[in-house]
Amino acid sequence: MYAITGITGQVGGVVARTLLTHGAAVRAVARDPQKLDAWATNGCDTALADITDANALARAFSGTDGVFILLPPAFDPSPDFAEARAAIAAIRTALITARPARVVALSTIGADSDRPNLLGQLRLMEAALSDTGLPVTCLRAAWFIENAAWDVADARAGTIKSYLQPLDRPVAMVSVEDVGTTAAALLTEAHDGVRIVELEGPARVSPNDLAQAFATALGHPVNAQIVDRQTWEGLFRAQGMRNPQPRMQMLDGFNDGWIDFPAGRARKGAVTLEQAVKAMI
Ligand SMILES: NC(=O)c1ccc[n+]([C@@H]2O[C@H](COP(=O)([O-])OP(=O)(O)OC[C@H]3O[C@@H](n4cnc5c(N)ncnc54)[C@H](OP(=O)(O)O)[C@@H]3O)[C@@H](O)[C@H]2O)c1
Repeated sequence: MYAITGITGQVGGVVARTLLTHGAAVRAVARDPQKLDAWATNGCDTALADITDANALARAFSGTDGVFILLPPAFDPSPDFAEARAAIAAIRTALITARPARVVALSTIGADSDRPNLLGQLRLMEAALSDTGLPVTCLRAAWFIENAAWDVADARAGTIKSYLQPLDRPVAMVSVEDVGTTAAALLTEAHDGVRIVELEGPARVSPNDLAQAFATALGHPVNAQIVDRQTWEGLFRAQGMRNPQPRMQMLDGFNDGWIDFPAGRARKGAVTLEQAVKAMI
């Protein structure tokens, strides 16, 4: 039995569907009873738990061969990352109580950097899970290609806006499909101690590559256009963000190269940019 948090989201959904396809038993862990019903219909065991509820999580994780941990994304966090800290504390307590056979936690490219930025939330998670005494895999995924789902409307209009810059600089990216299938495989692998697995797609992707992939999928020209760094804070605040600094620091990290995988070290997924963009369209 594998307990999957974040199962109603992108990666958790792929993890669960992959395990079910291979005949494994899955316990869906979610905070919304109606969403759990859908997974029960798919043949899953279910457990109702908010990610900050250590007791409910411990019940959800008990008696399992593996647990998939997904820290809910927080793009506009409190300055001290209070939301992530509360979730991480509950997850850690629940894992130590339930003692599943192994844990796969979704982490990120850049979790190795101690420079302040949004991804520091997952760095905190890695640190908290590193001394539970359980076999733990931190799966550090590259930038999700599916982040470009936000750009589909702009692509249809012919110009996507890019915070990644310069426009011809390739960035490590990966499809959520590859992240989910890799996590499912890792959940079934016996190992000791704590290990880090880095994952990117079959090829690096520049904003120009992304525009070209949209052009191919849509059948008309699509260009990428830089969003001037000077305008970011005003734009993010206009979108309702209260604390845009960590997100800006993260984007700076990708653009300046201090958020990256060392060349040649990451595992490679199979889903191409073109396949992922076609699926988004
Ligand atoms: N985007 C990237 O480029 C990237 C790259 C590397 C790593 N990551 C990491 O990947 C993760 C996001 O994965 P994703 O895209 O699959 O997420 P997603 O599709 O946004 O799904 C988020 C999941 O978290 C659940 N959730 C949110 N708040 C919760 C709570 N209080 N209690 C229980 N469950 C809760 C959601 O459940 P509901 O359906 O109830 O809302 C949903 O299942 C983040 O940790 C992010 O840092 C992202």
